[in-house]
Amino acid sequence: MPDKDLTSLTIPRPDDWHLHLRDGNMLRAVLPETARHFGRAIIMPNLVPPVVTAAQASAYRDRIMAALPGDMVFEPLMTLYLTEATDPADVRAAFENGIATAVKLYPAGATTNSASGVRDFEKVRPVLETMAEIGMPLCVHGEVTDSEIDIFDREAVFIDKVLKPLRKKVPDLKVVMEHVTTEDAVDYVRDNPKNLAATITTHHLIINRNHMLVGGIKPHYYCLPVAKREAHRVALVQAAVSGDKRFFLGTDSAPHTDPNKLQACGCAGVFSATNTMSCLAEVFDAAGQLKKLEAFVSLNGPRFYGLPVSEETITLRKGDPVQYPTQIATDDGPVTVFDPGFDLHWHVEN
Ligand code: NCD
Ligand code: ZN
Repeated sequence: MPDKDLTSLTIPRPDDWHLHLRDGNMLRAVLPETARHFGRAIIMPNLVPPVVTAAQASAYRDRIMAALPGDMVFEPLMTLYLTEATDPADVRAAFENGIATAVKLYPAGATTNSASGVRDFEKVRPVLETMAEIGMPLCVHGEVTDSEIDIFDREAVFIDKVLKPLRKKVPDLKVVMEHVTTEDAVDYVRDNPKNLAATITTHHLIINRNHMLVGGIKPHYYCLPVAKREAHRVALVQAAVSGDKRFFLGTDSAPHTDPNKLQACGCAGVFSATNTMSCLAEVFDAAGQLKKLEAFVSLNGPRFYGLPVSEETITLRKGDPVQYPTQIATDDGPVTVFDPGFDLHWHVEN
């Protein structure tokens, strides 16, 4: 139950620990949507071609900063896309020179632009051992890609078949299981406190697979990992509002234009940057845990990444329904903003 007396909350400026900004026209249009509320974000490297080397990450970082409106402050935390050809020395240099914050592991074929991902984990072992040595986190898209594994089971199978063996081989590696969608993943992170954390998206706290599939197919709710049954959503909310240090926000805000979403074979991704903070406040308030929002969006992420908590603050204030656009215009076409399916009452004041 919401606490009726709690109508405002001031917290350190939040960070987004999993974000897709894309490039070019799309980058210019979506970057302000994140920078308006968030101080930093872990930037996903799944461009075409992917951001693999330190030099590519540095150039991408420059393009992001060039796209940032002059009156906004934002720090992109860059990631390197792990391939079987990644050079451990390049990864080490990227981390030690402050160019990259983390490395991203996509199992080959798991999601949008993941064709260059990893097939044979032995091939990337030297990179993982270097990362463990220097304390650089590995962000993991935790889904197996075997065609015979049901799409709703791919995360749970990944934990058993890939994550457990990988963490056994390189136990000192810091791992972030990204955008967890199952109770299995929540339990695994809770039960394995050493060097392991998980991000949770805004939309997976709000929708289950019925929202996507009942009464007609809703392409704007289609993302990867795909939303699961309600019991899993409830487990995610419990983990997020618990204040447990191992769980923090990674929106996975992933813009695709409407023409790319609304077709016979549409792209995976939910774009939630615009209204994420209001959505989250609504979720935490409904659970009677509004005060735990600070841990989830502002404290737990920097703690795991070994970075300082923001010294700036934002204030959330409860009031009349928040007005936000249903679409963001880009020079590539419109991008639809996540529809939580209920009114949002928490306004963000910078
Ligand atoms: C992401 C994208 O569009 O880049 N899509 C998604 O559904 N989340 C890729 C990803 O993070 O899996
Ligand atoms: Zn993502």
